[in-house]
Amino acid sequence: MNPSTLKGRSLLTWIDYTSEEVRYFLDLSKKVKEEAKKGLHKTRFRGKTIALLFEKRSTRTRCAFETAFGEEGGHPVFLSNQDIQLGAKESIEDTARVLGRMFSAIEFRGYTQEYVEILAKYSGIPVYNGLTDSYHPTQALADVLTVEENFGNCRGKRLCFVGDGRNNVARSLMVISAKLGMHFTIVSPRELWPDDELKNLCETFAKESGSLLSITDNVEEGVKGADAIYTDVWVSMGEEALKAERVTLLTPYQVNAGLMAKTGNPGCIFLHCLPAVKGEEVSFDVIEGPQSRVFDQAENRKHTIKAIMLATL
Ligand code: CP
Ligand code: NVA
Repeated sequence: MNPSTLKGRSLLTWIDYTSEEVRYFLDLSKKVKEEAKKGLHKTRFRGKTIALLFEKRSTRTRCAFETAFGEEGGHPVFLSNQDIQLGAKESIEDTARVLGRMFSAIEFRGYTQEYVEILAKYSGIPVYNGLTDSYHPTQALADVLTVEENFGNCRGKRLCFVGDGRNNVARSLMVISAKLGMHFTIVSPRELWPDDELKNLCETFAKESGSLLSITDNVEEGVKGADAIYTDVWVSMGEEALKAERVTLLTPYQVNAGLMAKTGNPGCIFLHCLPAVKGEEVSFDVIEGPQSRVFDQAENRKHTIKAIMLATL
């Protein structure tokens, strides 16, 4: 793989990248993290600017983009939908064309995947998806980095997502696992399974990489043999009205000590993209316990996001 082919590209979902390219981002992330630990910050974004567009709240994604870009000499500009026209008084197409004349790159967090696609199409600069209702690709890269820090190459390892199996995080994990040859299981009530279209697409990647994908509503079957158990909030941003329904559906799927024991693997780690609602999707003792790697994951957001920007800018 020639890394120069990544220059100028957007990251909207990992679907658009080959396995070799995803692997390149992952290896670069490891290098970037090592450099950071040695205090070898450079000035690789000097003279560059990035617009950070946020329709939804964020702690990790915003801070990762802002610090990763700024400490390398770049100038990040945070813009919420209270600050600029984002489809309100101006079309997204026009906003994209204006930002494209002023910035080196754009990060977008919001509701519809269509917006991030329009930004990429019309701005002419790299656009990074910092979470939409459909995907959270920068999160998934940090997650795989965390898996590899614990187990070495993720190929053949078993990652199991328990909870809202159709949400942005679960969907992105299915794509990246299928690309990298990691086995991936969703354990979720049937009402919350991802759509067949995405599953079938991922199956085509999985066939090539050797990844095994499965979806089940049976906790015992699903978590057995897992190397990592992953969960996320039961109610994603923008879905607050569905809270009561989700609590009913997902209470049997809480990640607690009993569920972790059902993996049969004492070395199994616990992952969560954060923010977490302790006592809902995960019990306090599991997220605060020795199997939890959630703050490594959070830190890895920064190293992986820096690597993504370094590779594409
Ligand atoms: N995991 C994650 O994206 O966190 P934030 O919502 O705080 O950015
Ligand atoms: N699924 C969650 C992820 C938050 C990082 C949400 O969309 O709110």
